[in-house]
Amino acid sequence: MLEGKVAIVTGGGQGIGAAIAQLFAENGMKVVIAEIDEEAGVEREELLRGMGLDVKFVKTDVSDEESVKMMVKKTVEYYGGVDVLVNNAAITSVKSIFERSLEEWERVIRVNLTGPYLCSRYCAEEMAKRGGGVIVNIASTRAFMSEPDTEPYSASKGGLVALTHSLAISLAKYHIRVVCVSPGWIETSEWKKKSLRKKPELRPIDHLQHPAGRVGTPMDIAQLCLFLVDDEKAGFITGVNITVDGGMTVKMIYVD
Ligand SMILES: NC(=O)c1ccc[n+]([C@@H]2O[C@H](COP(=O)([O-])OP(=O)(O)OC[C@H]3O[C@@H](n4cnc5c(N)ncnc54)[C@H](O)[C@@H]3O)[C@@H](O)[C@H]2O)c1
Repeated sequence: MLEGKVAIVTGGGQGIGAAIAQLFAENGMKVVIAEIDEEAGVEREELLRGMGLDVKFVKTDVSDEESVKMMVKKTVEYYGGVDVLVNNAAITSVKSIFERSLEEWERVIRVNLTGPYLCSRYCAEEMAKRGGGVIVNIASTRAFMSEPDTEPYSASKGGLVALTHSLAISLAKYHIRVVCVSPGWIETSEWKKKSLRKKPELRPIDHLQHPAGRVGTPMDIAQLCLFLVDDEKAGFITGVNITVDGGMTVKMIYVD
């Protein structure tokens, strides 16, 4: 029963997080959009409230412990507790290892890995008070395979897969399930804030190279998250990663 549950979606102002926030709210959940980009957060809150959905934007930097603590406190004040956390916010860095500064490496790890750790730590405390909860970590297929020049992003996502099973075991005694979703190529152009929104520019080959015959959408990820946070459907699933990539990571590629 998801009706009335309180969910926090980090980075919920745009992209995949915005789809997760919308689908959760459409299914009766109260949703906090914990987003660093004020323009994106305000816009998304207005849009979803205009659809009659119960959402609240709380400006948050997931890499900052005080900001995370304050966001969780505001969620409890506003909605009375926390039942679900989706660690979705992330940044990337595509650059040669010889040109990337140590600060840039550390920033990606801090947002993509320390951020989920901090949000999990403070949300789990609240979930335990309510007798349980669910944490969903959004990793990436790049946790398992790479293109060149993506070291901190790939390493952070690999870390998030491991953080998932580690938290699942530590938090089991509080009846908190922790699961990981690894998206492949998801086209997010139409889910960006207005100033960045555009029509997707995808070639036929972009779709056809996927065994599923198409590039993914934010709702492909949101639908799995909705299933995973529902104890009646997914109550026996914890600690694992589920890949949602249209089959790309199991496809062998030989050049003729
Ligand atoms: N789009 C894809 O193809 C794809 C593929 C694999 C994994 N993912 C993962 O899915 C998640 C969402 O990706 P997306 O493509 O929708 O990204 P996006 O950039 O469209 O959205 C991410 C949101 O997170 C916010 N954010 C960034 N840093 C933050 C911080 N410190 N605190 C709070 N919010 C912050 C951004 O402002 C943005 O609104 C990410 O974890 C990403 O790594 C995406």
